Amino acid sequence: MNVVQLIRSKRDGHALTDADINALIMAYTDGSVPDYQMAAFLMAAFKSGMTTAEMVALTHSMLYSGVVLDLSDLPGIKVDKHSTGGVGDKISIPLAAIVSACGVPVPMISGRGLGHTGGTLDKLESIPGFSTSMDIASYRRQLRELGVVMIGQTDDIAPADKKLYALRDVTATVEFIPFIAASIMSKKLAEGIDALVLDVKFGSGAFMAEEHDARRLAETMVRLGEEFGTRTVALLTRMDTPLGAAIGNWVEVAESIRVLRGEGPADVTALTLALAAEMLVLGGVASDAGQARLLAEEAVATGKALRRFEDLVDAQHGDVNVVRNPDSRPGAAPLAQIRVPDNAGRFVTAIDARKVGLACVELGAGRARKEDDVDPVAGFTLLKKPGDPIRPGEVLARVHTSSRDRAEKAGSDLLAAFAFGNAAPAVKELIVDRLDVGGWGRR
Ligand code: URA
Repeated sequence: MNVVQLIRSKRDGHALTDADINALIMAYTDGSVPDYQMAAFLMAAFKSGMTTAEMVALTHSMLYSGVVLDLSDLPGIKVDKHSTGGVGDKISIPLAAIVSACGVPVPMISGRGLGHTGGTLDKLESIPGFSTSMDIASYRRQLRELGVVMIGQTDDIAPADKKLYALRDVTATVEFIPFIAASIMSKKLAEGIDALVLDVKFGSGAFMAEEHDARRLAETMVRLGEEFGTRTVALLTRMDTPLGAAIGNWVEVAESIRVLRGEGPADVTALTLALAAEMLVLGGVASDAGQARLLAEEAVATGKALRRFEDLVDAQHGDVNVVRNPDSRPGAAPLAQIRVPDNAGRFVTAIDARKVGLACVELGAGRARKEDDVDPVAGFTLLKKPGDPIRPGEVLARVHTSSRDRAEKAGSDLLAAFAFGNAAPAVKELIVDRLDVGGWGRR
């Protein structure tokens, strides 16, 4: 392989062969192609575009850069869900418990916070003792015995993505649909799942700000899923405003527990049930979305889903007592409150999800550098959401943190994310569309 020739060819807009792409990805993964050449290649592809065949080859090479799990000896149709990332997006936590409680095995490999978005692993690790690392044998055992497992990406799963993602992050080559799609799908397909539900988000708090880009990303990932024999469905959802009332780590786990008790915020509950219904149909335990939804609602109403979550926490060494009594978690109480300013108007008209996410990272819920630790109790609770009437001096939000120093600055950044006015904003639907192999269209 002549790497310089490959970069030149891509720079000049030519399509590369499968063999070229595979050789490049393998050589980058084993260290024989250095970061500077890969960075040049990434930028060349970003600027010149990639054909569908190139993107499939890229996904294939990234997928087979490491271990591809085979779970076919375990009973059941294994289904996972992936969100393209948002603010207040704790859906994976109640969802995995509900779907598993309904009899569909859920092997879930999640990520950490990225940019302004939170990560499921950081949230789960805010449960004292909860471990998100596990060897493959234990992962298989827990999936077989409990029907659900939630861990982080191991070194052997899609190592090319791990290296490439870090390089893209520092070379301004993240926001390119073929790269995002190959990155997400290579990791998910390596989990050994039979089917996948995607939550593709757009809006200020998503990686795709524009709906049409999110649609293209969804189409690309559904096509890749089918190409690799994994049934894939995508919901297109809005991410202009944070999901639910809790944004951060422990606060989001506590809100997930409320969802499992049937007391969660309407938006989080609706999206969780919609995604659960898709997973239950794909998992073969329901024949249609209506029946699947009833099953999911019943798992919540009977407490089966909450018990499954407690068992998951126990199996992964977390403290089940804080799940049973979330207020007992040390540091959970808020340290500060944000109030409605004078002359704000009569309604909250918008809350900019990206600004809230950035303020939350600043508060310590996310990382400024890769090696930073996160504050497990850092987060916000929003008491008012868009459309809610307000009065001057009323509490708008609470700030949770283990660092009093950070509370004031994060509080004023959070306030800057709110917009107020005298007219209630139009209500926009959260779930905008649905895509499967047959095309777009709500069920
Ligand atoms: N999430 C990923 O896993 N990869 C991307 O490229 C973007 C979001």
